[in-house]
Amino acid sequence: MRNLIIYVTLLLAAVPFVWAGGAQEVTPQQADDGYKLITTDELEFKWMLEDESLKVEVTAPTTGWVAVGFDPSRAMKDADFLFGFVKDGELNISDHFGSGAFSHEADTELGGTDDIISASGKEADGSTTLEFTIPLNSGDEYDVDLNPEQEHTVLFAYGPDGADDFSTKHSFRTKVNLQF
Ligand code: HEM
Repeated sequence: MRNLIIYVTLLLAAVPFVWAGGAQEVTPQQADDGYKLITTDELEFKWMLEDESLKVEVTAPTTGWVAVGFDPSRAMKDADFLFGFVKDGELNISDHFGSGAFSHEADTELGGTDDIISASGKEADGSTTLEFTIPLNSGDEYDVDLNPEQEHTVLFAYGPDGADDFSTKHSFRTKVNLQF
């Protein structure tokens, strides 16, 4: 009996680790405005393919930063991040790269380029929405090739309310597998 209790306790303790490693499989929906859409946890992610670019709209329940990351090799490493916050009505958005498993740097600090074609952002009712358009394949070594014919791992994260910066750790993060 004692062994059984130890076994069940160890099994339950392992569950969060097993869960944390896997990406959720999600089924995109077609929105009326031509976007495809997923809602995961409290986040809404919409996207549209346009010529050689990807148009994105992401909304999260925070007044701090919101970010999307594409195709990490593990954890946050090697992911192509688009990372932004709205402060005093002004959007501050930047193209980052997963320089380590739990770190990231602006592409421009690494010798790369800030590959955002256009962007806008707003904060309302405690939520932040970022809209941005990025090239599917910028050619920058600190971005990934977002080939629409392949499945991609997409990371989502946001910071705590008021974290209008690129450094405060997330209060929430998740990942999904998606084909654009
Ligand atoms: C703002 C600066 C950031 C800091 C200081 C940071 C720090 C960390 C740390 C310490 C961990 C390991 C502990 C944990 O699992 O919570 C982690 C994991 C993770 N972070 Fe970040 N992070 C940042 C930004 C981001 C961004 C922008 C994203 C995605 C858009 C992201 C996605 C993730 C994911 C998915 C994991 C879990 C990886 C795994 O277990 O596979 N992080 N981060």
